[in-house]
Amino acid sequence: MRRAIFPGSFDPLTNGHLDILSRSAPLFDEIVVSVLHNPEKNPMFTVEERCHMIEEVLSTVNSQNCRFIVESFSGLTAEFARERGATAIVRGLRAVSDYEYELRMALMNRRLEPAIETIFLMAGEEFSYVSSTLMKQVFELGGRVAGLIPETVETRMRVKVK
Ligand code: PNS
Repeated sequence: MRRAIFPGSFDPLTNGHLDILSRSAPLFDEIVVSVLHNPEKNPMFTVEERCHMIEEVLSTVNSQNCRFIVESFSGLTAEFARERGATAIVRGLRAVSDYEYELRMALMNRRLEPAIETIFLMAGEEFSYVSSTLMKQVFELGGRVAGLIPETVETRMRVKVK
């Protein structure tokens, strides 16, 4: 059983996240989409709302025989990965600018849990500029984000930003 976790804040889930998830699906039997409980960061969506939105969208994604699970966690990602019996942490890379931060996290996570590897997947180039932060900012200022986030997420953002 090859199990990975795909950790993040997912505030909110973007099509870039879904792109990484579908690219990682053929590599694993099970992927736990792991939503960080981070109330101190003042997220737009509660962790429950984020998990619920991801579950809704995942039911429409072709999982290619990989089982997707959504769970929230707090504390260390490496510790959560070990507790869940994962052998890998999946992260997406969009551009060179992601590399330094991701490298530091991967090396720290490896120090914490040497048996767990971080696997980097390259996001599709159409998502190279898509981040949750940018999506929230553009949406709040009335810009179009259609095609960059799932429709259900956009609907829920509309309710939040009223
Ligand atoms: O995609 P994001 O939102 O930037 O995800 C960042 C995340 C959640 C992967 C990172 O902040 C994290 O792992 N936080 C949990 C605390 C932790 O383990 N910190 C040390 C990482 S080396």
